[in-house]
Amino acid sequence: MLVGPPGAGKGTQAEFVAASLAVPKISTGDIFRANVAHGTPLGVEAKRYMDAGLLVPDEVTVTMVANRLGEPDATDGFLLDGFPRTTPQAISLDDLLADLETKLDVVLELVVDEDEVIRRLSGRRTCRGCGKIWHIEFDPPIVEGRCDRCGGALFQRSDDHAETIAERLRVYTRDTAPLTEYYGAQGKLVGVDGTGPVEDVTVRTSDALRSYLG
Ligand code: AP5
Repeated sequence: MLVGPPGAGKGTQAEFVAASLAVPKISTGDIFRANVAHGTPLGVEAKRYMDAGLLVPDEVTVTMVANRLGEPDATDGFLLDGFPRTTPQAISLDDLLADLETKLDVVLELVVDEDEVIRRLSGRRTCRGCGKIWHIEFDPPIVEGRCDRCGGALFQRSDDHAETIAERLRVYTRDTAPLTEYYGAQGKLVGVDGTGPVEDVTVRTSDALRSYLG
């Protein structure tokens, strides 16, 4: 599992980690955004919370994750990105994993300070075609507004505006940061310095995983 404040680089690193472990990346934010894009009832409900920088209610989120973990590609493992985000979600996850007769191996916390995450979120752009994450300053595509990987158009997330970013950071501190104690007490938490170039963070993340998973 990857945990860390909005903009810490969870989505960016999740791509590498999931590929290196050959497991699916399960990002609750991505699943909500896909539902919003398709106008499903779940998307309509989630959008109200997301645009306000608030968390989607636990019950809705846990049911969605339970369904996703039951899909065949998750049988041999998975990487969680953005879930759980509250202590009740973490407790529900423990129950879900017990039902599936599996357990969490490790929780990687990407540590980045608040000024840096604000810079990262303000300049983030995402590809509409393949979902690749870019940054206008730190990781720009060759052609402005176009994805190098698939040629898709880049867009700015509707929750990446100053006021919403501030609310998301408040919600993180209040509801999600306490999870580090929850997983610390289980002996599963490993802190990773999330600052510096993406490639350096990837090396530190891979090293942390290797030393933990062997
Ligand atoms: P979600 O999509 O999970 O958003 P988040 O946790 O706020 O995290 P972000 O996606 O904003 O950031 P990230 O850490 O993935 O950073 P990224 O790699 O993109 O959730 C969105 C919303 O959905 C929530 O607010 C909530 O409403 C709802 N939701 C989701 N899960 C939920 C749950 N479990 N319960 C309830 N509600 C839920 O990087 C950011 C930028 O920085 C990019 O531009 C990137 O290029 C750049 N960057 C990355 N690494 C570096 C680096 N090392 N140096 C410089 N730039 C970098």
